[in-house]
Amino acid sequence: MTTLESERPADYLTRLAASELGQAYKALVVDEMQIDDGATVLDLGCGPGADLQAFADASGPQGRVIGIDSDSEAIEVARRRVAVDKQIEVAVGDVHRVPMPAHSVDRVHTDRVIQHVDHPEAVIAEAARVLRPRGIAAFAEPDWDTLVIDFPRPEVHSSYRRFIVDHVVRNARIGRRIANLCDEQGLSAIRVIPVTAIYRDAASADRVFGFARVTRRAVEAGYLSAADADEWLGHLSTQRFFASVSLFVTLAQKPGS
Ligand SMILES: C[S@@+](CC[C@H](N)C(=O)[O-])C[C@H]1O[C@@H](n2cnc3c(N)ncnc32)[C@H](O)[C@@H]1O
Repeated sequence: MTTLESERPADYLTRLAASELGQAYKALVVDEMQIDDGATVLDLGCGPGADLQAFADASGPQGRVIGIDSDSEAIEVARRRVAVDKQIEVAVGDVHRVPMPAHSVDRVHTDRVIQHVDHPEAVIAEAARVLRPRGIAAFAEPDWDTLVIDFPRPEVHSSYRRFIVDHVVRNARIGRRIANLCDEQGLSAIRVIPVTAIYRDAASADRVFGFARVTRRAVEAGYLSAADADEWLGHLSTQRFFASVSLFVTLAQKPGS
């Protein structure tokens, strides 16, 4: 998996989910999913399981929650986390081929997953396949082209962002595409909610962006000169800091009655 994360993915994801920003947008998504009592909720790319308990709480004692992820280490963390809750199941699997029958779930969820997959349209088609008629999907996916970082020479920042979009995240502009992909793949997009993360602290931002590592790669790939890279990294680590990036929460419904 290609990520901007600079440490072990499961540790990083658990801490991000527990951060103020992570908690706020994740709570918003659960709310918008309108999960009924007794619902079956499928979390595609559940990672270490940050959202599974919230889905179980929302679907009540008769509900069922299934988390799938291709990373066996993340699934092991998720399994330990939810071990006592009989209504939650987790399994290693590929979200391009969801091991569930058609029309078998009421809600499907992704959070920062489709940005990494080989075939975004196939994952959305799978969500449409497994949803029951009138079922709802919520896709929370970033758009890395919305990244802004305060730096006196905007052309340097633009080159850094372009490197991320071109080489670091596989589907870096997926946030803006999901609504249209839903409409093409058997779902109807009903609402898109923008969520913008603001970072004023360089150290917290660095845990997401991995500035030194990504900048070094940008130099190797010819996006930044060595002199610009030194100036960029020096500025980020010593001057007042501001960065932001947006993700889009796309809510879509499976047609039918
Ligand atoms: C940024 S993490 C998000 C995890 C979780 N949704 C959360 O909010 O903490 C992306 C996850 O997508 C998973 N993933 C990427 N491609 C996948 C695929 N083809 N099938 C299953 N999982 C995949 C990764 O293993 C990783 O756990």
